[in-house]
Amino acid sequence: HKQLKVFPKSFLWGSASAAYQVEGAWDTDGKGPSVWDNFVRIPGKTFAGTNGDIAVDHYHQYPQDVALMSELGLSAYRFSVAWSRIYPLGNGEINQAGLDFYDRLINELVEKGIEPIVTLYHWDIPQALQDQYGGWESRQIVDDFVRYAKTLFVHFSDRVKYWVTMNEQNVFISHGYKTAMHPPGVRDEKRMYQANHHANLANAAAIVAFRSLGCPGKIGPSFAYGPNYSIDANPENVLAAENAEAFDAHFWMDVYARGEYPPQVWQWLVDNHLAPDVYPEDAILLKQGIPDFMGVNYYRTMTNAYNPLDGVGIEQMNTTGKKGTAQESGLPGVYKHVRNPHLQRTNWDWDIDATGLRIGLRRIASRYQLPVMVTENGLGEYDTLTDDLQINDDYRIDYLNEHALAVQQAISDGVEVLGYCTWSFTDLLSWLNGYQKRYGFVYVDRDENSAKSLTRYKKKSFYWYQEVIRSHGATL
Ligand code: BG6
Repeated sequence: HKQLKVFPKSFLWGSASAAYQVEGAWDTDGKGPSVWDNFVRIPGKTFAGTNGDIAVDHYHQYPQDVALMSELGLSAYRFSVAWSRIYPLGNGEINQAGLDFYDRLINELVEKGIEPIVTLYHWDIPQALQDQYGGWESRQIVDDFVRYAKTLFVHFSDRVKYWVTMNEQNVFISHGYKTAMHPPGVRDEKRMYQANHHANLANAAAIVAFRSLGCPGKIGPSFAYGPNYSIDANPENVLAAENAEAFDAHFWMDVYARGEYPPQVWQWLVDNHLAPDVYPEDAILLKQGIPDFMGVNYYRTMTNAYNPLDGVGIEQMNTTGKKGTAQESGLPGVYKHVRNPHLQRTNWDWDIDATGLRIGLRRIASRYQLPVMVTENGLGEYDTLTDDLQINDDYRIDYLNEHALAVQQAISDGVEVLGYCTWSFTDLLSWLNGYQKRYGFVYVDRDENSAKSLTRYKKKSFYWYQEVIRSHGATL
């Protein structure tokens, strides 16, 4: 075991959430509907038909939630702003009551010494923009996103120093336009790559706007990174793993960090008549919008093997919560994801791999020379509230302890890591998996069928993280 460096003094010990998954109050105080408010009402789209109408009622219970964050000792809290609370129609009149809610939340955090990390966009585009021009499929989204982003920068940047532009563009674009598991529920790769290009432009334009306003602080996207392995040393499989890394990671992160699409993937897009329309000025904007850090949401690694041209296609996630029900998936002729025999899996078939986080952080640091921030990491599992109101989530403690240690190892390897945010602080709605797949340090008494009491209970992991933060990582 090599000697580990101590966590830097400024290291942020955080936890994260997203508006739709915690807030509830879906039509309160002038909020407009988002695409998720409507999508969840289509029968069969979410587990047991769950929605975020009430979620865990953070909109009303935030004072209690922030008090719990303070009791735990969090130094940062990452949350997202619901665009349609600020602009109910996406680009029309501003809704003061929406700004007021986030003012109250941010003031409460700042008062308790908790650094707010604000995500501009965590998947909940205003329905009005989807109806008006097809949301991300139109270039018009870039201007509207920038107007919304500027409103937040101007209003909050006296108190907010860390901004995340976009959460997991790779996930919302792929599930929105390829697997159709997220809104708008389309299966059309040509449209997917065009929408993705607009998201790239919106990301870069928001970063440029942030700097042109002279806002203090740091800004960057959060990418869902599942580092790719080869199943073995067979060169065909190694090539497949490199393909997976190019298609599923470099295709997004190269654009963020270098302002360029990776040539190998671009060639594939051209060959398959899938390349998006790119204007000459786009290249300039993408080069200007290089972030201050790369946000990384890390849950698992992916293991790859050769996939013939007539091989397996698109991903269908295990949303059943029954281990072993995940199907093989891939991109024909490019790669195929296979089971890694060396790793344990969660009940939702996600490989558990702390070393993968160390590998991923190192890859990002050496390819992009950017600091990284772990903006999400956590374990979704069933939890049980015992008769004496305890939640003994030792499995979550084990997972988080190993992963936080992997962060410390990456720091010791020379990677600059700004902070570590667990997913999540309270239990919350898993988009497709309902309320039974829990991630929090704080258990919330509700289930698929009913919002129940919404009472908060501290899990065993709450006390574990409290010690980690109190010792600045020495108890890991
Ligand atoms: C990330 C998202 O993809 O993973 C979160 O940013 C999400 O919003 C989390 O909840 C866990 O995913 P899931 O599918 O288990 O809820």
